[in-house]
Amino acid sequence: MTILVGGTNGLMALKVAKITGIPLCYSHVDSYPDGEKYFRFASNIEGEDVVIFNSMHPNPDEILFETLLIAETAYSNGAKSVTCVFPYFAYARTLDSIKGEALPIKTVVKMLKIADIKKIITVDFHLQENVFGVEHLDLTGMEKLAEYCLEEFSDNFTVLAPDEKAAYWAKKFADKAECEVLALKKIRIDAENVIVDDLRKELEGDVVIVDDIVSTGGTVCQAARIAKRAGAKRVFVACTHAILAKDAIMRILESGIEDIVSTDTILSPVSHVSVADVVASAID
Ligand code: R5P
Repeated sequence: MTILVGGTNGLMALKVAKITGIPLCYSHVDSYPDGEKYFRFASNIEGEDVVIFNSMHPNPDEILFETLLIAETAYSNGAKSVTCVFPYFAYARTLDSIKGEALPIKTVVKMLKIADIKKIITVDFHLQENVFGVEHLDLTGMEKLAEYCLEEFSDNFTVLAPDEKAAYWAKKFADKAECEVLALKKIRIDAENVIVDDLRKELEGDVVIVDDIVSTGGTVCQAARIAKRAGAKRVFVACTHAILAKDAIMRILESGIEDIVSTDTILSPVSHVSVADVVASAID
């Protein structure tokens, strides 16, 4: 088996290689001056099972194309199989299409199929189901995040899911932390604005808001305001994928949230929890 360092999150591929002892495959990813992608294998991959690591942030369109290019090149150089590890998989947040609106995940799934990718590994995939039509392993960072929060934030807290979908991850987190979990209701207005329904319950003590993705921070800031209004003492945030678009980190800390932690599926200033060992055991 060979591990390939892709364009993004090569650090996780390196960590996984170190944990498992599986060798890294050297390669060269570059761009021509007009932005067109260049790729070359610098190791022999003939007969190998190739594992491509590529986290879809930033510039998911570019990363998707790069992954397809690497997969195609792997097969044309004699690879036995290609597995893709997408620690963060984008394109999964547009769900109910408005008439005329694109549903990107459909197109992406078709492209991955054409590239003959045999297995896909993700971490806390937003759709919570296998849409790929090939073997799909979805891992979770929730248990490790819960351990971190218990050690670094508070030893006694309530878990709050900012919307009904997030309740799925919040429950996994709460099972590990052995604490109560509550869920809010959210209506998304557009990419940057959401309305979160009030909590019809009094809160006491600390609260950890748990979600898969924090992008603009709008969702967690609204949830934090509601938690404070309901009586929460301190509010923290834990998420798997810290996209932290634009000035999200400032918005989050200015909103009164004490601290935020994420995993290293996307490398950000708050990626204090590594899921490399979770990925490593899945690959091993
Ligand atoms: C959406 O359903 C996700 O689970 C997150 O709640 C969402 O991506 C967060 O986005 P933002 O930080 O921009 O509110």
